[in-house]
Order: sequence, then C-alpha cells, then structure tokens
Amino acid sequence: MKKKIRLSRPCIENKDAVLDLARKILETGFFTQGKYVSLFENQIARYLGIKYAIAVSSGTAALHLSLIATGIKPGDEVIVPAYTFPATANGVELLNAKPVLVDVDLDTFNISTNQIETRITSRTKAIIPVHLFGNPANMDEILSMAKKYNLWVIEDAAGAFGSIYKGKKCGTIGNVGCFSWHPRKLITTCEGGMIVTNNCKIAEAVYILRNHGIKKVGSHYDLAIPGFNYRMNELEAILGLVQMKKIKKRLKERQKLAAFYLRKLNNIEEIAVQKVYPDCINSWQAFVIRFLNAKDQKLVMKKFQELHIETGIGTYALNLLSFYSSKYNLQPSSYPNAKNLYSNSLAIPFYNGMKRTDACLVVKILKDFLHEI
Ligand SMILES: Cc1ncc(COP(=O)(O)O)c(C=O)c1O
Repeated sequence: MKKKIRLSRPCIENKDAVLDLARKILETGFFTQGKYVSLFENQIARYLGIKYAIAVSSGTAALHLSLIATGIKPGDEVIVPAYTFPATANGVELLNAKPVLVDVDLDTFNISTNQIETRITSRTKAIIPVHLFGNPANMDEILSMAKKYNLWVIEDAAGAFGSIYKGKKCGTIGNVGCFSWHPRKLITTCEGGMIVTNNCKIAEAVYILRNHGIKKVGSHYDLAIPGFNYRMNELEAILGLVQMKKIKKRLKERQKLAAFYLRKLNNIEEIAVQKVYPDCINSWQAFVIRFLNAKDQKLVMKKFQELHIETGIGTYALNLLSFYSSKYNLQPSSYPNAKNLYSNSLAIPFYNGMKRTDACLVVKILKDFLHEI
C-alpha cells in the first residue's frame, strides 16, 4: 500500500500530560466548564496580553456571540471578505443582518481594503476582517475606516492564533477577536473557540450569552437574556492547556516548514504563494498555493489523490455559494479575485510534526507534474 500523507494532522506532543489530566477529570466527575476552562482562558489572555479571553464551543460560536455582544441587529450591514469560510458571514445572517461582501487581494488572499469604503452605507455597523490562513490583514487601513465611520472591528482570527501584525498579536487589534481551536488550527481542543477583548461590556455580554443568558444577581441566578449553550468543556480545555506549553516551538516549526515550501515553490512559474505584508508574521494555519493557469488546480488535486496525498481547496468564495448568491443576487464577476482563488488555489499538506521527507515529496510531485502538463 502506498504511503498516505494527510493534509493536516493535529499534533499533541505530550499525550501523557493530557491523559493524566483527563484521568483527574474523569475521577472528579466535573466535566462541564470549570477550573480547567478558566486556566486555559487565563493562559490565552496572558499569551495575548489581553484582559478577557472567553472560551466557547467553536470559532463559529465566537463570531456569533461577538456579533450579538456588539449589538448587531436585523437590517444592519456588516462588511466581510468574499473569500473566506462561510462561518464569517453566517453569524451575521443568523442575526437577520446583511453580510456585505468585499473582494480580496490576489496576493495576500485578504480583504481588499481599498474597496471597503465603497460598500459602507448608513446601515453598516461592523467590519469582520479575516486573517486568512494566518496571514495578517491590513489592519491599519481597516482601523482607520472603522474610526472614520464609527464601526466595530471583529477580527476573524480563526486561523491566526500566533500571527502578528506590526508587533500586535492578531485577534487583539480590533474591538473583539475570534479564534478557532478546530483540529486544523495551531492548537486544537477538538472543537472549540475563544473570544478575546479588552472591552468589559462586550466581555460581560459574552459571559452571559455563552451560558444560556443566565446571570448571577446577588446570591441567586436570573435570566438576563435568552442565550446559548456555547460553553467549552473541561476535557477540551486540558488539550488546549497542554499544547500551549509548547506554543513557541509549534510556531517555530510551522515557520520552518513554510520557509521550506516558500524556498522550493518560489521559482515555479505556474504557482503564486500567499504574500505576507512587511513587519507581519503569518502563523501559517494552512499552506495554500494559487495556480496561475485555470485547470491546474483540478489536475494537480487529482494527481495527488491518485498518490494518496491529501489536498484541499483553499476556502470558499461566498458569492458562489447558492445561499448567498441567490439571496443577494451576487454575480461571480463582481468578486473576480474570490472566484479566482476558489477555483485556482490548493491547500497542500502542512501541519506540526510533518516530516521533511514528506514535504520534499509533495514539492517533487508538484514540480514534476506541472512540468509534465
Ligand atoms: C476564517 C474562519 N472563520 C471561522 C471559522 C469557524 O471556526 P470553527 O470551525 O471552530 O467553528 C473557520 C473554520 O475553519 C475559519 O476558517
């Protein structure tokens, strides 16, 4: 049987530490949000240098609660990039607000900040920049637009834990930051997410909303607002706690693997790689390449599949998804770069613990095949 290379693989270096803590939790019988969730939250807050880090059940839950906590209401408009995972826009839609799509730049894959202003109306209340695949978005431009039009900035930093924009940690630059701990992220809690903010009102709303809307008033509990069960559990939290102990090593390893791919792929004419702005650090949640020729993506994907090497699309062009295209009558031609990236990009195997020989094989197959076709 041929060797299989996965697109992504969660890496838990210290399994014994996880198992020891899991055993403790199983013995005590306290499974739901408690001591270990708090410890994980404190660890993340310390690492990011932020006041509040609030654990939730997913990155999607983080976005949903951030939008509610910032007061997004039916009929409001929220600016989102056209090329992103649907969760970025779904939270807006679920509040009966309108996600207003803005195309992305072909080089960075991030929102085209020079197009944001044309989409702002009197109903616009927030911008959700996405640091796509860990690549920091142009936050200076986004913050200045937000200041000019009095908008909230909710960073979708789902894949950007550890990324840095001009000395500031992604997720801590806007009013609220949302992280995902899904298994394809730098650290994982199986499923999970985190909301981070320095704003005590937002934090208070999120604390209440993630736990059904229940609020402690004096010595009793009352329902402040109908809420959700978006809590993280204790077993999830210990996975995060243990992985955070090696966060620097994990980041360094990803930088090295990305540097290897960049070195090897830079001189292939048919491929472009994600451009990182100067003074920024991409934590490389995923390594996504863009083919300059139409058709290459599908052919290369098929070739890798035959060789048992997993690849994937980069992410979605929201304007091409049936729900958004039909509801808002969105044309593919209105978002040419999102369409281009959706059709022509490819995520190649990339994860902590990936063997260099496997990365060499991926590069060799890619080079040889592109030469052939
Ligand atoms: C940009 C972006 N936003 C939000 C999410 C949602 O995160 P989760 O899967 O933890 O709900 C993802 C998931 O991959 C994502 O890539």
